[in-house]
Amino acid sequence: MFLGIDLGTSSLKALVLDVDGAIVGTASAAYPITTPQPGWAESDPEDWWAAAGQAVRQAAGVHGAEIAAIGLSGQMHGVVLSDDAGQPLRPAILWLDNRARRQLEAYAELDADLRRRLGNPPATGMAGPTLLWLRDNERAHYRQAHWALQPKDWLRLRLTREAASEPSDASGTLLYDMTTDYWAKDLLDALDLRLDFLAPLRESVEISGVLTPAAADHLGVRPNLPVVGGAADTAAAALAGGLLEPGPVQLAIGSGAQVVAPRDRLAIDPTGRTHCFRAAAPDRWYAMAAMQNAGIALEWVRAILGVTWDELYAEAFSVAPGAEGLIFLPYLTGERTPYFDSTARGAWIGLRLGHTRGHLLRAALEGVAFAVRQGLEALAATGVPMTELRLAGGGSFDRRWRQLLADVMEQPLLATPTTAVSALGAALLAGVGFGAWPDAQRVAALAASPQLVATPGPASDAYREPYWRYRQLYLPIAAALA
Ligand code: XUL
Repeated sequence: MFLGIDLGTSSLKALVLDVDGAIVGTASAAYPITTPQPGWAESDPEDWWAAAGQAVRQAAGVHGAEIAAIGLSGQMHGVVLSDDAGQPLRPAILWLDNRARRQLEAYAELDADLRRRLGNPPATGMAGPTLLWLRDNERAHYRQAHWALQPKDWLRLRLTREAASEPSDASGTLLYDMTTDYWAKDLLDALDLRLDFLAPLRESVEISGVLTPAAADHLGVRPNLPVVGGAADTAAAALAGGLLEPGPVQLAIGSGAQVVAPRDRLAIDPTGRTHCFRAAAPDRWYAMAAMQNAGIALEWVRAILGVTWDELYAEAFSVAPGAEGLIFLPYLTGERTPYFDSTARGAWIGLRLGHTRGHLLRAALEGVAFAVRQGLEALAATGVPMTELRLAGGGSFDRRWRQLLADVMEQPLLATPTTAVSALGAALLAGVGFGAWPDAQRVAALAASPQLVATPGPASDAYREPYWRYRQLYLPIAAALA
């Protein structure tokens, strides 16, 4: 059996797969994101470690001893500064973190060719700007660090004592040269950043180390199990959804929302509104619209308005589409696609007497859906093939929410049945590394066929004007709050 571990933003998911590709068990364990200052977002890697022990034991149940290989997946872009044994020097700085705004200027001043080879627009929360911030503001930690790792690669170090990364996560750091497929050494020189603390690169299916006895004990599995390179969460989710070749696109709604479109060649968005990252297979890439604020904004709304998720849906859907003129901008952590503006702010606009909590909730769901539609449009404008829209990931199971998404996108929505898709992708990569399947292409073909779950209905008309207004509001609000 193969174990996939997905170190997500708000929770860690574990999934156990048998050799026929059937899911034997899944479990998750949550942890907090802290905001020591407004706009910052950190997590304690020790919480990730505790969650790994809990979720893996629960997912494996009585099968712990049958696990033969492990694959890792995780939230992208963030940084853990660690010693050589995996002891973090400070909390992890996450992809949601906006602190490195000034450091983006260093990227803006770079030679145009160096910037082009990153393949991605500079944004806060990415390892490069964050490391510049650490260099400028926490010099002792920066100098002392033996490794600067993405979250799942830190977990690997703890599990195996080996530091390694792989192209899909490395390409999301703003430290990676998309044209040479390696750390961007000349960019690191130009920015005066260390190269020595970036991990050696392996392939996603390559064995990067074996489980130490202490780690095996923590997870409840056998020691010396091989741990493969694995992949960034969006790349792993795409693989599990069967998306390695151009055609269908996948919408994942977790803490953020991403629309992923596979590519068979390196194609950088000249408008700088969408990403281009390496996929979980050699010579494969994906274009992506990344919206920062989906579950993270809805969870914030849910908590401050004091409702459960069931109440949120029930109250929101008792209000008519369009929330009677109330509009929600979800940009609580700044925004990437389409604005790439870390200063973007959230808002409810159009409040009136008579609006209820239900209106606020409905507007919040609609605002997140509008953000996704804008992302889809930005991606479509790059010319990437988008033959159908498939929903993946947790946070997207309510029937009414799926209908709202189909209505706002004005296109049919398909979905695959699995929740923990990134953990599934990681487990599949472990299976390839172990030799159960020949390559990533073969496991992508194992993906369950997606089923039609919602088609746009009459409410589509009701969303057109609110969506138009939504798009008009970002600029004036940004100008007023600048
Ligand atoms: C992608 C992105 C998210 C994170 C967290 O650019 O920010 O997918 O990886 O899930």
